Amino acid sequence: MSFKTLDDLGDITGKAVLVREDLNVPMAGGNVTDDTRLRAAVPTLTELADKGAKVLVLAHFGRPKGQPSAEFSLEQVIPALSHVLGRPVTYIDWEGDKDAVAALNPGDIAVLENTRFFGGEEKDDPAVTARFAALGDIYVNDAFSAAHRAHSSTHGLARALPAYAGRAMQAELEALEAALGNPQKPVAAVVGGAKVSTKLDVLKHLVSKVDHLIIGGGMANTFLAARGVDVGKSLCEHDLTGTAEEILDNADKSGCTVHLPYDVVVAKEFAANPPSLRTCNVHEVAADEMILDVGPQAVEALGDVLKTCRTLVWNGPLGAFETQPFDAATVALARTAAALTSEGSLVSVAGGGDTVAALNHAGVGDKFSYVSTAGGAFLEWMEGKELPGVAALEG
Ligand code: 3PG
Ligand code: MG
Repeated sequence: MSFKTLDDLGDITGKAVLVREDLNVPMAGGNVTDDTRLRAAVPTLTELADKGAKVLVLAHFGRPKGQPSAEFSLEQVIPALSHVLGRPVTYIDWEGDKDAVAALNPGDIAVLENTRFFGGEEKDDPAVTARFAALGDIYVNDAFSAAHRAHSSTHGLARALPAYAGRAMQAELEALEAALGNPQKPVAAVVGGAKVSTKLDVLKHLVSKVDHLIIGGGMANTFLAARGVDVGKSLCEHDLTGTAEEILDNADKSGCTVHLPYDVVVAKEFAANPPSLRTCNVHEVAADEMILDVGPQAVEALGDVLKTCRTLVWNGPLGAFETQPFDAATVALARTAAALTSEGSLVSVAGGGDTVAALNHAGVGDKFSYVSTAGGAFLEWMEGKELPGVAALEG
């Protein structure tokens, strides 16, 4: 990986810097309900402003499909961004943007309106790229979580202006490189979640990269079924057992050990603490029972596997962690990983969808080496795909 960072910027006093951030934060009742992405933007924005640049933030919000509307206006995110920055933030509408930019002083931070109010943004339209580029001298991409999109603001601009990775992007790329690019071995991956079908490419890629693949969540049932286990009425994609078998064969050929649960937590109904709750061997699941979590013996064995590893990549929960007590396996294994990370024996990287929520639930969200705020981009990276936003920074 080779890309320029903010360390490579010369004197930027008075220069207009276009910074792509991911301000696509969840909102309810006009308030930001999770400001993680806003906080991730702070180091880059502060550094550039303190170096005397005019900082122009470019970002999308939701999927307005080229139609400007109040619902998708970034203006509503400005108070929360200003709060985490601890300084004022100017809002700039696309009507009158040139004058508003010209009126900024060195050290000011402004957010331009939703880039997706231009239909051409998502088509990487050169005309839209040129419109953005005309406002700035330099481009900084700080939005890893939008880097799987080849859009004007994530891809085109890196070709139109001198391009640099922001601090959050840099930290993300360095962490990902340490986890799968050039990791210390042995490497373990935990892949959980409901369905094999959403993570087929992840699984196919990982079996060729890692030494231990730990499969949990609903998708483990499909693999168990492929191995001839009767999973009762568990969530299971029976049409994918052939694919699961292929993945298991490929793992074998690559020397990757696949770990499936051998004891499981089952119930007849999916509810919190159901009366039918019990733990059993995977071969003893009754026809009217469903598997809802990995069992305690398997979790202990998985902890022992992690103790032999130097690197861990984690995506997806091991059980139905939002409902008690089916969070037990995820919580226990996450805590083992966190403890090994604290001891310095494991580099642990996690990301994608439910994963951050699951680790926070286990109380270890801040104890992994790195937790990515990206959803789709993290998964595409785990699939071994080139992310257009990252590739464009590399030259
Ligand atoms: C996200 O929220 O995952 C990113 O901001 C990308 O958004 P998108 O999926 O609408 O492109
Ligand atoms: Mg998304």
